[in-house]
Amino acid sequence: MAKFLITGSEGMLAYAIKNNAYFADHTSYGSKDFNLLNFEQMEAVIKRDKPEYLINCAAYTDVTKAETEFEKANAVNGEAIRDLANLSKNYDFKLIQISTDFVFSGKDFFEKHEDDEIDPVNAYGASKAKGETYALDIAKDPLILRVSWLFGPHGKNFISVISELIKTKDEINVVSDQLGKLTYTVDTADVLAKLIERNESGIYHFANEGIASRYFIALEIERILKKYNMGAKSFIKAITANEYPDKTPRPDYSVLNTNKISFLLGEKPRLWKNALEDFLKR
Ligand SMILES: NC(=O)c1ccc[n+]([C@@H]2O[C@H](COP(=O)([O-])OP(=O)(O)OC[C@H]3O[C@@H](n4cnc5c(N)ncnc54)[C@H](OP(=O)(O)O)[C@@H]3O)[C@@H](O)[C@H]2O)c1
Repeated sequence: MAKFLITGSEGMLAYAIKNNAYFADHTSYGSKDFNLLNFEQMEAVIKRDKPEYLINCAAYTDVTKAETEFEKANAVNGEAIRDLANLSKNYDFKLIQISTDFVFSGKDFFEKHEDDEIDPVNAYGASKAKGETYALDIAKDPLILRVSWLFGPHGKNFISVISELIKTKDEINVVSDQLGKLTYTVDTADVLAKLIERNESGIYHFANEGIASRYFIALEIERILKKYNMGAKSFIKAITANEYPDKTPRPDYSVLNTNKISFLLGEKPRLWKNALEDFLKR
């Protein structure tokens, strides 16, 4: 018996949660031992572990491939959440579902609040939106935490990819006309602990403070790499999303409003630049 059951255990966010002291009393499983597409397997693990909370970090996260593999994305991010939600009711645990800013279109230039109408920007967003709906409609007292542009240790993400490129390439192209908010996994795990401690339910947004384009973030990565003599040799060139080869629809303005969580916790999320510096220094 453990308090928390963490799914997607080899993923980036799961790594941060597993390493946060608040979640010490946990069991965690990767896709082999807790496959979201295998109801019997999930039920057997839940019966055995008897969690109070199931934190679902498992997801189909390849945003580009989801366009052509929608059924697969939908099965993992959508339909499987119905199973988790039913299990939550049957076995009396709280389902914590991690979701995304991509449930919004990002085509208008407004920050998105928790109760704003969803309008997924792409296939991945649509699959995650379905998962949210199942969790909210079926699960016992669910909590949905939406995050955006996630980065952290133990994962392939925009920051790790770009910092490697800046160290090794002479020139890189980075999109400058789409804006969003970075979210550090380590800060996300902290915030999740506080939400659980306060027994919160419903939808919450979390992202680090401050809005930036990927181009601006790349410049900041370069600045930090230089500051710590970690090697930065690229010329960073701004391009438009239209010039970027991957044509998967992405939001122009992907900004999760975090006032709800700030009011609850009595503090704003820390600035993305500070979180980024902490991450790159590690
Ligand atoms: N990354 C972002 O920028 C971002 C932004 C907003 C929201 N989110 C959300 O945040 C959460 C965590 O994301 P992340 O970046 O940490 O993900 P990640 O690193 O890609 O990890 C996802 C994990 O899910 C597992 N998984 C995939 N299919 C599975 C299945 N059928 N059954 C069980 N496990 C399965 C994968 O395991 P295998 O490799 O073994 O398949 C992988 O370890 C997800 O809900 C994601 O949608 C992410």
